[in-house]
Amino acid sequence: MKFRLLIPSMLLMATMAAAQQTSLQRAATETTPQPQYTQPAAPPVTAQPNTIAIPMFDVDPATLLPISRQPNAVKGAIYADPAANPAERTLDLLRRMTYEEKVDMTGGWNKFLTHAVDRLGIRPVSMSDAGQGVRLSSAIIHTKSTSFPSMIALAATWDPTLADDYGKALGEECRALGVDILLGPGANMQRLSVGGRNFEYWGEDPFLSSEMARQYVIGLQGQGVIAVPKCIIGYDQEFVRHIASSNIDERTMREIYLPIWEAVIKDAKAEGLMTGNNLINGLSTFMDRGLINGIMRGEYGFMGMAMTDWQNSSYFPAMQQYVLTSGVSLMMPVNATLKAYIDGQAALSPVRKAEVEELVEKMVFYTLYPMFKFGIFDRPSNAPEYFKTFEAHKKVAREVGAEAITLLKNDKNVLPIPVGKKVLLVGEPEIQGGTGSGEVEGYDHVSFADGLAKVYGPNFSYNTKIDEEQVRKADVVLFSLAKKGAEGEDIPFDGPAGQLDNLRKVAKLNHNVVVLLSGANGLPTDWLKDVRGLLWCYFLGQERGSALADVVSGKVSPSGKLPFTIERSFADSPAPQFNYIGGKPYWGGNNEYRSVWLGLKPVPADDHFWQYVKPGQVVPVNYDEGIFIGYRWFDKKGLPVVFPFGSGLSYTTFAYKSIAVRNAMASDGAVYVDVTLANTGKVDAKEVVQLYVHEVNATVERPQKELKAFAKVFLKAGESKTVTLKLDSRSFSWWDVSTHGWKMNPGEFRLMAGGSSDNLPLTSSVVLK
Ligand code: BGC
Repeated sequence: MKFRLLIPSMLLMATMAAAQQTSLQRAATETTPQPQYTQPAAPPVTAQPNTIAIPMFDVDPATLLPISRQPNAVKGAIYADPAANPAERTLDLLRRMTYEEKVDMTGGWNKFLTHAVDRLGIRPVSMSDAGQGVRLSSAIIHTKSTSFPSMIALAATWDPTLADDYGKALGEECRALGVDILLGPGANMQRLSVGGRNFEYWGEDPFLSSEMARQYVIGLQGQGVIAVPKCIIGYDQEFVRHIASSNIDERTMREIYLPIWEAVIKDAKAEGLMTGNNLINGLSTFMDRGLINGIMRGEYGFMGMAMTDWQNSSYFPAMQQYVLTSGVSLMMPVNATLKAYIDGQAALSPVRKAEVEELVEKMVFYTLYPMFKFGIFDRPSNAPEYFKTFEAHKKVAREVGAEAITLLKNDKNVLPIPVGKKVLLVGEPEIQGGTGSGEVEGYDHVSFADGLAKVYGPNFSYNTKIDEEQVRKADVVLFSLAKKGAEGEDIPFDGPAGQLDNLRKVAKLNHNVVVLLSGANGLPTDWLKDVRGLLWCYFLGQERGSALADVVSGKVSPSGKLPFTIERSFADSPAPQFNYIGGKPYWGGNNEYRSVWLGLKPVPADDHFWQYVKPGQVVPVNYDEGIFIGYRWFDKKGLPVVFPFGSGLSYTTFAYKSIAVRNAMASDGAVYVDVTLANTGKVDAKEVVQLYVHEVNATVERPQKELKAFAKVFLKAGESKTVTLKLDSRSFSWWDVSTHGWKMNPGEFRLMAGGSSDNLPLTSSVVLK
């Protein structure tokens, strides 16, 4: 075959031009996209077996040698030379690969690895899931990995330096465990409080999400491990996730759902990404040329591997022609559906074969290039010396946990609890992490009970059952309330019913009840008035008990702030009926519908779901609330909430003293805002200073406030500090659909600073020209 030189920038220009009809433009021209999302019925015979059944074979990491020690590597070849330019190495390797080897390289091998090219001494490369640490079941070495706090907990710290430490620690674990590609972080938004994977995301605000995720990726990739933020884009709920089309308009996409991608791809230079199982405005994300080639590669400069989520390709067997040109590069875990299409095309004529081969080369380039760039083929697959770093990771996990825990109620200063008090822990065992691909087992777990027992000694007792006498006699009752988070299903707001009943009962027996809530989803809070305290604990991983004890005992003053809003009831949310099928909610999203949808099984006659969803038909999820998710929504509707975004108490008190604004937009493109605050209490503590912006005379509807800067500061008791927060033109801009660009209007902007989105005592304004 005649090899055609791949020149990446030309390739980008070509694909950008070809990306004329982007999902955004489709959105822009279709106001309310409705049932035209009917796909052609899939031909049953070409449908692939359910990928979940593919077994993971053992791979001996000791055999995964660097190129320099591979007997089949071509001596003197550019691709085998660690000193050569990574793009040239990739091109050199591509030139030497056969048609079959290239086609193989468009798919994964053995569930969580890339294909080897044995003939040329190229080893398979291992990847692993990364919900809150390295998921051992997807790694090639199964010794141990730390279960860190989940992403949502990391977000609650509001501390990008902790996100950096966290990413670095993950990178070190990857190096020990032979993982070269980490399938994280989650980069979706909390659109609704019931999203099953909310625990893997960073909450409801694009700015907070971006600041944290960016730093995680930088920390991780600093260890030579490829980050794969996932799952692009609008995969914010689990509801029939493989056949649901998130219908999102252009402005909303740019202002709410894309910023985190800009942060991880453009700023942090993540070398990988994963497409979502879902569709966007009617097109499956892995076929979306406008999104992958247009925005990610064209606008954000992404040159890395774009892999599919694990079921993508098997749902759309009849549409494979779009895959070859979308900018996606790797079908995970297998490329069987695509390969059948490619081979079929190649058999048509030599000309067609050359055409598809060229497209395949482009895909393979993007997969291999970052591996050369990170020197992955030049190192052995695992570096056991990194196991030495694990002990220090426990500290990172504990610190993140303690800084995440969010104190939402503390009547009569029930917390901290002095040593010597009689403390009783009751209720469900706390949950350390969410389930699904984000599940991380962890080791050396310190449960809530272990951590508290260590501090309170014989005065501490733990009982999962409610013994009335014991509850009455305790000085303080800590009630563990655990609400699961899970991939493949959304989590109904109303629950967990049994536990809530127990809580109501306990609150009647003792006045000093503090609820310890493990979870990442909304829930009814009618019990709140009957308890003294509430600590939102998210999923804190293996060091959860130590982190909790640090906060409960007062060793650490809580400084976590909610990265989402807790609404009064799900009826208040922007889309309470997002998952209604024929008037009934449907909570599943784990392939339950797959066989029937693909025509592999007959439609069950009496099934409610199948009365409304036809095989091959896509289910619309219309993001009609637009840019108004989270606090933007509740502000707009004037709906009171239980706990606002950004809220969280401390054991001390802070006074926000003054705000001063320096408008240097003309000279250095920035507005500087000095906020002075004082720790007016008796306890050293950290506070998150938050700055929100509102455009006074907007030309389009804009939110009442939007977070645009924040800083976490430590103040000793009695100390005052001035924090300088920086705003740039983006902080004031909105996405103009008529020009398809950011626009900053001249005029007045209100600036509001404080410690919670509902408590912003300092206000000022700036006039921009
Ligand atoms: C999940 C991905 C995950 C993959 C591999 C999919 O079901 O959506 O987040 O990386 O499985 O485990």
